[in-house]
Amino acid sequence: MAYLIGIDIGTSGTKTVLFNEKGEALSQSVFEYGMKQLKPGWAEQSPEDWWKAVCTTVPDVLNKAGITKEEISGIGLSGQMHGLVMLDKDGRVIRDSIIWCDSRSVKECQEITEKVTFAKLMDITCNPALTGFTASKLLWVRNNEPWNYEKTKKILLPKDYIRYKLTGEFATEVSDASGMQFLDVPKRCWSREILDLLDVDPGLLADVYESYLVTGRVSKEAAALTGLKEGTPVVGGAGDQAAGGVGNGIVKAGVVSATIGTSGVVFAYSDSLKMDPQGRTQTFCHAVPGAWHIMGVMKSAGLSLKWFRDQFCNEEKAVAALMDVDPYVLMDKECEKSPPGAKSLIYLPYLMGERTPHLDDDAKGVFFGLTPSHTKADFIRSVMEGVAFAMNDCLNIIKETGVPVQEIRASGGGGRSKIWKSIQANVYKSDVKTVNATEGPALGVALLAGVGVGIYKSVEEACDAVIKIKEVQKPDLSTQRIYEGYYDLFRSLYRSLKEDYKKLSGLL
Ligand code: XUL
Repeated sequence: MAYLIGIDIGTSGTKTVLFNEKGEALSQSVFEYGMKQLKPGWAEQSPEDWWKAVCTTVPDVLNKAGITKEEISGIGLSGQMHGLVMLDKDGRVIRDSIIWCDSRSVKECQEITEKVTFAKLMDITCNPALTGFTASKLLWVRNNEPWNYEKTKKILLPKDYIRYKLTGEFATEVSDASGMQFLDVPKRCWSREILDLLDVDPGLLADVYESYLVTGRVSKEAAALTGLKEGTPVVGGAGDQAAGGVGNGIVKAGVVSATIGTSGVVFAYSDSLKMDPQGRTQTFCHAVPGAWHIMGVMKSAGLSLKWFRDQFCNEEKAVAALMDVDPYVLMDKECEKSPPGAKSLIYLPYLMGERTPHLDDDAKGVFFGLTPSHTKADFIRSVMEGVAFAMNDCLNIIKETGVPVQEIRASGGGGRSKIWKSIQANVYKSDVKTVNATEGPALGVALLAGVGVGIYKSVEEACDAVIKIKEVQKPDLSTQRIYEGYYDLFRSLYRSLKEDYKKLSGLL
């Protein structure tokens, strides 16, 4: 039996999982770390914390599973996308990493759009300039901390910094590189034209590989620190979204995932290049050779329900603690007491502004239609419905691009909750399926490692061998009809409020 390790450098922590070749998780280990928010809208993390997390979790999974380092065939890396790690000539970290959810680079996005043009950005990088992406973060450092920029000899993404620490190689792969905004996404290589227009030295960038390819081997020094065997192959891996896509089996046309985590992501596979001309969804290279993925990202999906839980559900939390269950299980029960449409209470889930479909930092959350008859149950249902409506917005843009949507797989909190799955099935007007595998990105990159070292012939074959449908939630016609009306109103509410959101921001 061969064994593989998937390492996911997440935002709240690093999760390392050891799998056998059947894709069964034998052990896992999580190491949490914090995020520095020096100013509103800023978010930074220390790359050294990520490395410490890897040096702690890798020996832990080996120990827990009772597997020796010699039995590990390969390692796959996944992680939060877009974060900027800057290294000096000796490979030392120059400053903390400015990570994906940092939005300080608004001016630099304007600078990029002026220098490159919107049309060329869409043609080459397949996306508009976004504060989340690495290019605008790098330009921010150049504009605001020139002394740090001058010292920079290499820039790496979070998981690729871990690769450098593990193998000594400067390498990345196409899925994560797509989110830097320096990649020619159709051609899957760095764009000399974008780099020239932005006056960025191509020498700063790592070598770019297809995601399943071996990019290096564990060095003697890293072997001593992690308990891995020197020479263990490390494959490209993938950004967390593409890795999660592989881990959910989104590797063929027609299969789409709807993942409700903190954010909500609708992710579709495409074997030809498809994009929204307005740039409301992101088109990136997939971790499957010759394929791309298109995704809509709504910012406050699970976050909306978590916010409601933490502000208004202390009672549920206390009872859940006594019963030793998750408070969300009790909130699900509460939600079931409210009818579809939550007695005409509509929630707009824009707690943190929005990315898809509105690309609007000023947007805010709203409860619309409040009357004295509304109870906590109605609020919970309206939050779940509002999130499903916003996910449906993402799904509809993806459909408009011509990407086929034949099967929807729910994962994250929205895949665990039966009632949220049923709401989604009725809003999407489709069966909503869940799969056996729950490790998402860590499984995805372990499978890529398996392909890279020859255990599986292809990413598709790996997914077919490991990922199976576990449950199917069917929609029902009468509830679908109810949701049609509410969804229309949900959409028109944003249009009505768009200008008022701007005014509200002006008052802050
Ligand atoms: C993808 C994105 C997030 C981060 C953090 O574009 O911004 O998924 O990768 O999870």
